[in-house]
Amino acid sequence: MFQIKNKDSLGRTGILKTKNGIVKTPALMPVIHPGKQKINVKKLGAEIVITNAYIIYKNEELREKASLEGVHKLINFDGPIMTDSGSFQLSEYGDIDITNPEVIEFQELIGTDIGTSLDIPTPPNVTRNQAEKELEITIERAQESLKYRKEILLNSVVQGSTFNDLRSYCADELGKLDVELHPIGAVVPLMESYRYTDLVDVVMSSVTHLPDSRPRHLMGAGHPMIFALAVAMGCDLFDSAAYILYAEDDRFLSPSGTYKLENLQEMPCSCEICCKYTPDDLRSMEKKERKLLIAEHNLNISFAEIRIIKQAIADGNLMELVEQRCRAHPRLLEAYRHLANYVDDIEKYDPLYKKSAFFYSGPESLKRAEVYRYLNKLDKMPKKSRLLILSSSRKPYSTYLPEKLGKLYHIGTSTKSGDEDLQIMFVDIPFGLIPLELDEVYPLAQNESPVITDETACEFIKNLIEQVTEDYEEVIIEGNLNEKFDLGLYCEYEFKEELKLKLDEKDKITSVADYQFGKGAGAALFESKLDIVKSKKTGKIRHVYDDAENLIATMRASDGFFVLSKEGARRLHSRMEYPQNRVVVNQDSEPFAREGKSIFAKFVIDCDRNIRASEEVLIVNENDELLAFGKSLLNSAEILDFKVGQAIKTRKGGI
Ligand code: GUN
Ligand code: ZN
Repeated sequence: MFQIKNKDSLGRTGILKTKNGIVKTPALMPVIHPGKQKINVKKLGAEIVITNAYIIYKNEELREKASLEGVHKLINFDGPIMTDSGSFQLSEYGDIDITNPEVIEFQELIGTDIGTSLDIPTPPNVTRNQAEKELEITIERAQESLKYRKEILLNSVVQGSTFNDLRSYCADELGKLDVELHPIGAVVPLMESYRYTDLVDVVMSSVTHLPDSRPRHLMGAGHPMIFALAVAMGCDLFDSAAYILYAEDDRFLSPSGTYKLENLQEMPCSCEICCKYTPDDLRSMEKKERKLLIAEHNLNISFAEIRIIKQAIADGNLMELVEQRCRAHPRLLEAYRHLANYVDDIEKYDPLYKKSAFFYSGPESLKRAEVYRYLNKLDKMPKKSRLLILSSSRKPYSTYLPEKLGKLYHIGTSTKSGDEDLQIMFVDIPFGLIPLELDEVYPLAQNESPVITDETACEFIKNLIEQVTEDYEEVIIEGNLNEKFDLGLYCEYEFKEELKLKLDEKDKITSVADYQFGKGAGAALFESKLDIVKSKKTGKIRHVYDDAENLIATMRASDGFFVLSKEGARRLHSRMEYPQNRVVVNQDSEPFAREGKSIFAKFVIDCDRNIRASEEVLIVNENDELLAFGKSLLNSAEILDFKVGQAIKTRKGGI
């Protein structure tokens, strides 16, 4: 029913299948008022719409028509339709006259594609007691809906007010039910009062507990200003009544905020409406006519923003887009900063490799998943006893090793001298300290930051240097770093003998393998006598062979990671303990894996829980016999949760 196509951060592009057609996600569902709709939303790009089953139910004429001809005829839309249940009316008016079974049966009767049970939208900041009581009803009704549904896909709405643990609990409980989609409810009051930081808590505590294989819908979110941030938190669907509500007030939506017609000197975008009319044209029109034109602009720009987000996910620069969008309002920036508290959750979903370079856009970028992941991995890398820290902003760093070292400072004691057991690291923003050997690995080489940096970044480097130096017997630091980062070192140092700084190729391939596959992988792959072949054009390492001319691995030019050969896969498999680097497939799919066919998620019975998207993995059977190897398209949680779609793109079978 739902498949992921591309991933970036917690965001994903995907495909949602319904009986009336396919929806590409993230998607915006315009709210259609049954009986009142004047705008052809399909023409403007709507693939799916949302309408309200309760409103139809309450109006005799609409109810009759929908019952006889179906909801698609009623609202004149032949694509997928989602219906809401009347919960919103419940929260607005305190009472409604329909029961949960009735509203499910009614949605079946009118042939909706996706129906919703009668959840209770508990507002923010109620007492915990109220939130808990109402939540139990919401969950009971979600369970009860399953008894009445026949054809429709079911929404089960996450509630829990502003209690993060209740949101997570609700997501856990709803996740166990056989429903297909999960809206996140009762967030409209948060968005209306610019409480985006609370919105981040609500969404993150829900999303991190919902099954990855189901689309998530941020209910009532229709302002394009928050789409990018919400997608980056894992939301797939939005609904917009905003396009018409804002138009009613003569307000123009835009991803960078809202414009009032009375203040407009120029039209705010280049959609059909904005090209055809001037602000004066609109001001001199009848309200009714003007409202429809502004609503059309509002939809145009909202769909445009969704397209921009989908492209950013495909390109791997969603977070750069989020960082731009969150400058639209200080409360949004605050919310984005708050999102950094969830970096541990986000990192698990962020692919290891993206087509785009990492762009530093300000101190917030230091808290991105890529930096967090890198520093965690660096901490676990095998260590030498001595460290030499050099400054550089030129990449790849190994190409710019200084011929002569200037003034140096020294911490600790060591009996060693020269380059004996000496680790060289480069200081740079945003990744902090980069070992010479890892200087081509994504995104350590594929990033851009201003050469003149900011105070937060300097503080970050200073702290990192202080932290990392604790792990070494002796640390030698280039003089300008001492001053630039105010390290307070006093003891000047001179090498007793001339230091020849150079990159050792064996060290490099071993380090990259350890970094990529885990501690010990370098030894597993490269212990024998080797033939390291470099590119004639660039001089960079390309292939590693053993002394019998068997290819072990290829270092990919685009990201500096290894792609294994059959021999490499065998070596890694024989030395890395189960379940490291493995995806375990069932018996049925074993022959397909051996033939080199890609692995579908439903055939995977277990895997290494540390697998991220874009990871090189070993494909084994239940007896840990190596069948094939390939690249993961999803992370471990997604691989295990999805029942449709590909999980691993197999590179080679027949091992
Ligand atoms: N529309 C906006 N918020 C909500 C919600 O919490 N539940 C339902 N069913 N619809 C909504
Ligand atoms: Zn426009």
